[in-house]
Amino acid sequence: MHKFASSLRRLTTDRNKFGPCRLRCFSQLAERQSTVESTGGVPIIPAFDYSPPPYVGPTADEILRKRKEFLSPSMFYFYKKPLNVVHGKMQYLFDENGRRYLDGFGGIATVNCGHCHPEVVQAIINQVNTIQHSTILYLNHCIADFAAALADKLPGELKVVFFTNSGTEANELALMMARLYTGCQDIISLRNAYHGNAAGTMGATAQSNWKFNIVQNGVHHAINPDPYRGAFGSDGEKYAKDVDDLIQFGTSGHVAGFIFEAIQVNYFLYNYQNKMNYMQSRMS
Ligand SMILES: Cc1ncc(COP(=O)(O)O)c(C=O)c1O
Repeated sequence: MHKFASSLRRLTTDRNKFGPCRLRCFSQLAERQSTVESTGGVPIIPAFDYSPPPYVGPTADEILRKRKEFLSPSMFYFYKKPLNVVHGKMQYLFDENGRRYLDGFGGIATVNCGHCHPEVVQAIINQVNTIQHSTILYLNHCIADFAAALADKLPGELKVVFFTNSGTEANELALMMARLYTGCQDIISLRNAYHGNAAGTMGATAQSNWKFNIVQNGVHHAINPDPYRGAFGSDGEKYAKDVDDLIQFGTSGHVAGFIFEAIQVNYFLYNYQNKMNYMQSRMS
């Protein structure tokens, strides 16, 4: 953690060294309103009236050894000494020594309900005590009630809900539906995008570290309209013209759909992780 804090400090003070990829504060308002105090440059997170139960499970080294023996090496981890996360409470995580961390992305970018919120925990217990699993081939009111509750929050004519198990599966379904509905094959996506790692979504993804060397056809990647590092800065019309060119000169002229993330979080994480690895290699 100390290494992380000092790397972060060096990243923010040495920001001019990194040219167009330098670190920026995306919300100056959040920065101003932050309750984080600074002591000697090391940020302190706010007090939290909760102590996790003592951890009696295996050590980080034991878990690593078992992972290496029984899990695919494709499941990589961050940092030379990866964090052993053993407990979660609301927005915080705790490691095997009871040290608390602010969880910046809920475990994975597409999950956003924190950890062990009492209402979420109680709802899960109630359901598991009632019936654990059913199928849409028979009736049960839960799926219909949940769909109706979600539809009630959706705008306009968006009133039909599909439930999936993951972001990848949701995007696979969206791509397939767009293709079936339009009768077109071509999809426009953005460079730097992340949409999942199954057959179709890997094609829509545009970060080399998340793409395997297999055939991924039917997706064309437009220039990423990144106002900070993008080729055209914040000139939206030039990015739109690139999409137009791509449709005219890179496809049959008819496309099934355009897929994009409202905010390219994975692209940010990718850049950030590269910076951290670079800083760590220079520090060790
Ligand atoms: C923007 C985005 N789309 C899709 C996915 C894929 O979701 P999942 O890992 O649940 O398949 C992720 C996962 O991080 C994501 O961040």
